[in-house]
Amino acid sequence: MHLEIYPTHNHLNGDSIEDKNVVIIDVLRATSVIANALNNGASKIKTVASIEDAFLQKANNSELILGGERNAQKVTGFDFGNSPLEYSREKIAYKTVLLCTTNGTQAVEKSKRAKRIVAASFLNLKSITDYLINIKEDTIVICSGTNGNFSLDDGLCAGLLLHELRKCKTISTNDFGELLLLPFENKNFDLKNTLKKASHLKYLESKGYGSDIQYCLEINYLTILPIWENDGFIHKE
Ligand code: MLT
Repeated sequence: MHLEIYPTHNHLNGDSIEDKNVVIIDVLRATSVIANALNNGASKIKTVASIEDAFLQKANNSELILGGERNAQKVTGFDFGNSPLEYSREKIAYKTVLLCTTNGTQAVEKSKRAKRIVAASFLNLKSITDYLINIKEDTIVICSGTNGNFSLDDGLCAGLLLHELRKCKTISTNDFGELLLLPFENKNFDLKNTLKKASHLKYLESKGYGSDIQYCLEINYLTILPIWENDGFIHKE
């Protein structure tokens, strides 16, 4: 089994992904929102690349919950921002959310023709690990990144995923994957403290999103498996 890890969604470079399995990671915060919203009973999380498209879809379906951000702040006219903790059971159970974010949902957009897509975060890493062990197929992992740049938080989540997979299986990876794995081979590696150096984490902290950060860095807190089906992520048992 081979895990090809990309530093940002721009590294897809128009690759043909029709027959590929894709894992999308946007720890801060899109894929953490997807995991938490599904865990709290949302029936589906659709994604869209542009705010205009989000409003168009809402015009055709007033039941849709619009969520997402620009510059980490809630978009004017949206129902929710991009804080996982906003997506509580009382507010979103049985509802369909349409998510539009700066990086995470762009990565989904570029992957929509893939054979399978799953959304990974620290919150649900074990579910993703188990799923990949089960399908036993080559997979592309896309670190969504931040505004076109690599994000340390996404990279370390991909590295931990690879590290966990290698405990159970022989997995080959690309050079970038080997690099991401290195810290996990050092038994003194302090993941939480290293994550604090991530620039997007510092940005979110400066905007007052400390509790989001704390939540998004909880490892294996949820057992949710967000898998793309037709037009959005649903939870697969
Ligand atoms: C994104 O998709 O760009 C992020 O989730 C941004 C954010 O932290 O809200």
